[in-house]
Amino acid sequence: MKISIFGTGYVGLVTGTCLADVGHHVVCMDVDAAKIDGLKQGEIPIFEPGLESMVLRNVEAGRLNFTTDARQAVEHGVLQFIAVGTPPDEDGSADLKYVLAVAETIGEHMNDYKVIIDKSTVPVGTADRVTARVAEVLAERGESVDFDVCSNPEFLKEGAALEDFTRGARIVVGTDSEKVRERMRECYAPYNRNHEKLMFMEVRAAELTKYAANAMLATKISFMNEISNLAERLGADIEEVRRGIGSDPRIGYHFIYPGCGYGGSCFPKDVQALARTASQVGYDAELLTAVESVNKRQKVTLFDKLSRAFDGDLKGKTIAVWGLAFKPNTDDMRDAPSRTLMEALWDAGATVQAYDPEAMKECRRIYGERDDLVLVADRQQAVKGADALVVCTEWKEFRTLDGEWLKAQLGFPVVVDGRNLFEPAAMKAVGLMYYAVGRGDTLKLDAENECVSLQ
Ligand SMILES: NC(=O)c1ccc[n+]([C@@H]2O[C@H](COP(=O)([O-])OP(=O)(O)OC[C@H]3O[C@@H](n4cnc5c(N)ncnc54)[C@H](O)[C@@H]3O)[C@@H](O)[C@H]2O)c1
Repeated sequence: MKISIFGTGYVGLVTGTCLADVGHHVVCMDVDAAKIDGLKQGEIPIFEPGLESMVLRNVEAGRLNFTTDARQAVEHGVLQFIAVGTPPDEDGSADLKYVLAVAETIGEHMNDYKVIIDKSTVPVGTADRVTARVAEVLAERGESVDFDVCSNPEFLKEGAALEDFTRGARIVVGTDSEKVRERMRECYAPYNRNHEKLMFMEVRAAELTKYAANAMLATKISFMNEISNLAERLGADIEEVRRGIGSDPRIGYHFIYPGCGYGGSCFPKDVQALARTASQVGYDAELLTAVESVNKRQKVTLFDKLSRAFDGDLKGKTIAVWGLAFKPNTDDMRDAPSRTLMEALWDAGATVQAYDPEAMKECRRIYGERDDLVLVADRQQAVKGADALVVCTEWKEFRTLDGEWLKAQLGFPVVVDGRNLFEPAAMKAVGLMYYAVGRGDTLKLDAENECVSLQ
């Protein structure tokens, strides 16, 4: 099939590349000329495992092309995927200006039947707005060209995007048109061989499904962080609690890891946007609001623990940070807990000495050159001469640790572990002050049931 994709970010580039890899002819269009120039020269703008070789292979085969030429992209595909960003507006609702700009572009250049597909995460009712915008532009041109708009939300996760796209649990398509169903079946047929994954539903249900999925996952994380904070104050180990509840098949082990809060380009903005949608229809989504505020509070716990260890005086200290990306296997730092930590450290007069396997370039892009940010080549160099260590991201290479060696590197024996990677007993055995999440090791109840610090 001939397919056009608007937006070559995490979703657009992965979608376009995977669809080309199964034999479709794909044109990816972006307004970012530098990105398109780079892609044409084989430079992949994001880190995503397996993506680079797949892009190169399909460009080589002539099935994947990149352009800034909107007309060329609109003319090419019968399927027109909209995969541009939907960042939060000032009030937290999803800003649809990029999505509607693409709708306008399609309306300006289309001369034959198109299926316009909302792949971006968009609020309920957006397909109607895209339909109206395209129709308006066609009317301004004095043209009458047939088209349909459907919703096809994307459920991939960064770090495993190719695997998720090609072997995802489901492919949701919201439409009431048989013609669209046929085209979407044809598009996704290569991924639908093992068992039926296509789920056709009403457009509004498809739009809401994406938000509900992300809100549910964010809720699990915030719930677990809430219980961690409680465990910490009660002298219980959250890791034992996690195993205890995860073994219940109604709960399961997925997504119940305590940590330093969720980040990334999706959960924070999508939870917020859904709460905003709720208030627009006169419903107070109390649970969603709580999920968000628990997460915001959780993100500052790393700094709070560190600050407690240094009696509130971090001025002049050098803090090693392991992990900058919001999660492993990506270079994405949007809303990452590391950012909340680093910004608080800088406000407190500390210097950050950081390492991340993939996100260093992104970190430099965000923060630029500054004296209080030292980016180093590996985790060893990050702790060398540092006063304390904070673990922000659970990259595989951080998961083993020689405690004796670490203690010898640090000016003070302080480790704040935002991902519960290490065993508190082993850390304490070598004399490290180890602050994890919800592991009952920094605070404990005394005989009078008063909360006391162990230090
Ligand atoms: N990143 C994820 O893991 C993920 C997963 C599922 C869904 N989503 C959703 O998918 C959408 C895209 O997310 P992303 O992370 O890929 O965004 P991104 O910011 O990485 O990429 C968006 C791209 O769109 C381009 N763009 C903006 N306006 C354009 C226009 N008029 N024409 C062509 N290109 C244009 C930008 O230049 C940019 O390259 C969002 O709605 C997001 O919520 C993201």
